[in-house]
Amino acid sequence: MAEAKTTTTTRWWRGAAIYQVYVRSFADGNGDGVGDLQGLLRKLPYIAELGIDAIWLNPWYPSPMADGGYDVADYRAIEPLFGSLVEAEKLIDEAHALGIKIIIDIVPNHCSDQHPWFLQAIAEGPDSPARELFWFRPGKGEDGSEPPNDWQSRFGGPAWSRSTNPDGTAGDWYLHLYSPEQPDFNWTNRKVHDEFDDILRFWLDRGVDGFRIDVADGLVKEDGLPDLDGRTPEPLPFSDQDGVHEIYRHWRRIADEYPGERIFVGEMWLPDPERFARYLREDELHSAFNFDFLGCPWDAAALRGVIDDTLAAHAPVGAPPTWVLSNHDVTRHVTRYGRADTSFDFGDRQHLATTDFELGTRRARAAALLTTSLPGGVYVYQGEELGLWEVENLPDELREDPVWVRSGHTDRGRDGCRIPIPWGGSEPPFEFGDGTAWLPQPEEWSDFTAEVEAADPDSMLSLYRTALRLRRTEEALGDGDLTWLDLGPGVLAFTRSPGFACVVNLSPDPVPLPDHAGVLLTSDPLHDGALPSDTAAWLRLA
Ligand code: GLC
Repeated sequence: MAEAKTTTTTRWWRGAAIYQVYVRSFADGNGDGVGDLQGLLRKLPYIAELGIDAIWLNPWYPSPMADGGYDVADYRAIEPLFGSLVEAEKLIDEAHALGIKIIIDIVPNHCSDQHPWFLQAIAEGPDSPARELFWFRPGKGEDGSEPPNDWQSRFGGPAWSRSTNPDGTAGDWYLHLYSPEQPDFNWTNRKVHDEFDDILRFWLDRGVDGFRIDVADGLVKEDGLPDLDGRTPEPLPFSDQDGVHEIYRHWRRIADEYPGERIFVGEMWLPDPERFARYLREDELHSAFNFDFLGCPWDAAALRGVIDDTLAAHAPVGAPPTWVLSNHDVTRHVTRYGRADTSFDFGDRQHLATTDFELGTRRARAAALLTTSLPGGVYVYQGEELGLWEVENLPDELREDPVWVRSGHTDRGRDGCRIPIPWGGSEPPFEFGDGTAWLPQPEEWSDFTAEVEAADPDSMLSLYRTALRLRRTEEALGDGDLTWLDLGPGVLAFTRSPGFACVVNLSPDPVPLPDHAGVLLTSDPLHDGALPSDTAAWLRLA
């Protein structure tokens, strides 16, 4: 018993509930309309009360914000709009004092085109050693006016842009898997490795508890940068190349030098669960986001399939699964779950598809109980605990996401899930800050502020608070495994030892609950002892 306890406390990340803070939209402390560290510092008690173990912050580094901070100009400083290094250190200390760990985003695949290395590479022209830190290549065609290969940017358009030589003539092309303002680093260069080793240490020395690795699968490119020629090989020449694992083995050794289990969580969108699990081997990353679950439709058989596949893929490497419903890149799940097609796919965001918000909210409540009771870790994206929806009616001229422009105005992108949080009051900016928020909030959010919801025992916030608190006290929850219960088609039900069960009813009919059970918590009231359609219950078993 004593041993089990030690394992849980020292391996905190295996069953952690992690709250994602998109700094820019969380809370504005200085009234300029943009979220910042002062704002976050003031809201730490709110986060602590939610009952989470750690915060993951989206990039907080100086950035021209061509991609919401994922275009980093300096990896060892804080974006002035967000605050200062002193405030970041204060945040780490105050969070720790509240028992909350801090995970920061690290962006090793690319930087900003305003990063000193890239500015130098452009300024010094062809043959400069600074160019070796990126992927500069001559163009194809007679005058080099065509990209070096046929790779496409994940934001649309070619993955290459042509540089201008110091003398003003058109020069070589450089690779960017994302926007042209995000040149890819060349990880065949030793200097890039050394730089990131040093950056990791810089933040570990300041007490951060871990890193969320952006585009963790992308760092290594296939030799020769081969054209795709219409193929979709697995792995792709710019994703999941075998060489990437050596980088993470090395990073793991660095993190392990520090006390208190500093962790890595990888962002990889990979089709093959076995290749995905390779990142989670004992000497590599601790965990990774489970995007198959996020993309899965609200359907019992499909969800059970994804849950089983997830558990099966993680088991051989001994890594804990994670469960994620929303983040700063995807359509908020209250909206997704209220549509006819409840799945998520980057290729088709179903912008403005008809949505039944009442249904989406009911399902989101049930999904909250499901995700927080599955074995492993769970992520909660800011605003999810308030039941916020995707804001789809933003005026196009206010859109900041590069996806909108790069897709030739066909994909309205990710601004709708990044709307500033409504904290209180009855009109925008809902105490987000004193100034006008950088993206407008819907008037209807007056009923969805943290203030209103904290006072309502039936709100989404109250549900999350209760669930996350129970998750901390119920021995069965967090890390571990599950046993499925058969309660009929359309019902997801499982037990976890000792003495816990979760039942989610995705069928159109009410489902009677096992009668030997004492009800702990339901997402919505029971009807005659039965669980209504699209609701969930947590039970303490006799
Ligand atoms: C990741 C981030 C996303 C960003 C992209 C490029 O997918 O989550 O927001 O645009 O990487 O850095």
